[in-house]
Amino acid sequence: MSRAEPVSITVCDDGPLLLRGDFEVIGADGQPVPTDRRTVALCRCGRTARAPWCDGTHKAGPRRTRPAAAREDATTQD
Ligand code: FES
Repeated sequence: MSRAEPVSITVCDDGPLLLRGDFEVIGADGQPVPTDRRTVALCRCGRTARAPWCDGTHKAGPRRTRPAAAREDATTQD
């Protein structure tokens, strides 16, 4: 019996969530969203025209999340 590789999720500052591995995406309607890719970008800004996938539209808007360096500063000051 082989073990499946774990799915990795990468959070991109002001961008999508990158999923890598053997995953299944379920849409808001409860149905699987077809894809044959092992790496996808899920939109988290809500501005994509290809939901649930990121189409790059997040780059046109204002920044919504803090850069990693700013987050590290905040956690050391708490
Ligand atoms: S995160 Fe890229 S379009 Fe929303």
